[in-house]
Amino acid sequence: MNVRVAVNGYGVIGKRVADAVRDMPDMDLVGVADIATDWHVRTAAGLGIPVFAATEEARAAMGDAGVPVAGSLADLLSQVDVVVDTTPKKVAATNLELYRDAGVKAVLQGGESHATTGHSFVAQANYATAVGRDATRVVSCNTTGTVRVLGALQDAGLLARARGVLIRRATDPVESHQGGIMNTVVPEGSIPSHQGPDARTVRPELDVVTMAAKASHTQTHSHFWTLQLTRPASRGELLEALRAAPRIAFVRMADGVTALNTTVELMRDLGRPRGDMWEVAVWEDVLTVEGDEAYLTYQVDNEAIATPETIDAIRALAGTVTDGATSIAMTDEILGMRREFLPAPASAPMD
Ligand SMILES: NC(=O)c1ccc[n+]([C@@H]2O[C@H](COP(=O)([O-])OP(=O)(O)OC[C@H]3O[C@@H](n4cnc5c(N)ncnc54)[C@H](O)[C@@H]3O)[C@@H](O)[C@H]2O)c1
Repeated sequence: MNVRVAVNGYGVIGKRVADAVRDMPDMDLVGVADIATDWHVRTAAGLGIPVFAATEEARAAMGDAGVPVAGSLADLLSQVDVVVDTTPKKVAATNLELYRDAGVKAVLQGGESHATTGHSFVAQANYATAVGRDATRVVSCNTTGTVRVLGALQDAGLLARARGVLIRRATDPVESHQGGIMNTVVPEGSIPSHQGPDARTVRPELDVVTMAAKASHTQTHSHFWTLQLTRPASRGELLEALRAAPRIAFVRMADGVTALNTTVELMRDLGRPRGDMWEVAVWEDVLTVEGDEAYLTYQVDNEAIATPETIDAIRALAGTVTDGATSIAMTDEILGMRREFLPAPASAPMD
């Protein structure tokens, strides 16, 4: 039987998760809940997704605004096995008791603290420990990227410690008329920034320190790492370790993929829904190794990267797939995730 899923909060993350659930053959999206009454939820209704009111006030307001309301959040919860809470940060924590009382398992997002669920999730790192749990938290976009890449190198026995600088986007495109910064970079006021400690909620054995700054663009984050390796290694060994891990793709300056905006455009050209890049894009030809130190940079699509992780978290909590690698492979195949975004160069003609 398919896992019956609800999404509470149809915003930047929620609408992506809802679409991905609809794509999965082993899941049914029963409906989405929200408090908004504007184009967001009317779009969902227009796509044929049942819209539920997350609060009583919202139900009245939705009715007034002409949004077809399928019922209350309690009605929605009574029909599902798992709810994905994609409400704004700190709201989900207040909903957890409601989910527990309804006997519904819950996937929270990175805006919540680790303590809220006591479990933080990145599929390739710790799927097994989420199997059958009542709740987990899919970590933030930056933390997911960090765990994927550093975890791959650690799994290969290559990583001793990592020190990184994270340049974050200022705000999401959909909210960029409401706020954000312009023509500046704003360093975070304390070190470490939260992403390093957050990565250790998933992989406690990582020796990682991060500094972060906010820049005045709206799409995607970039990370720059100095890595202390466990021993002198070759570039090839690091690339092999990254290739062995899921959800990491290579991009190259030599191909003209030279900046965050080019990768964003490439995803659009590939026909990705909303231009989403679910993979971490590592610049293959920038990665440098000198003895037992390595340096690398990659790009994280903050709006998209948590989508496949959330799909795997649903399966883990529901217990329908107990092996992480199997779930990851299912998710990645259906979404169409890739290791390379460009076809291999055609070989030169013989004569
Ligand atoms: N935006 C990102 O780049 C990003 C990346 C990774 C993780 N996250 C995390 O994902 C979560 C959701 O973030 P987002 O960016 O999608 O937020 P968002 O503001 O885009 O969407 C939140 C949605 O929830 C609705 N909502 C607000 N209060 C509600 C309530 N009480 N009940 C039901 N619905 C309610 C809003 O109307 C909106 O549609 C947060 O924990 C955030 O930290 C965000």
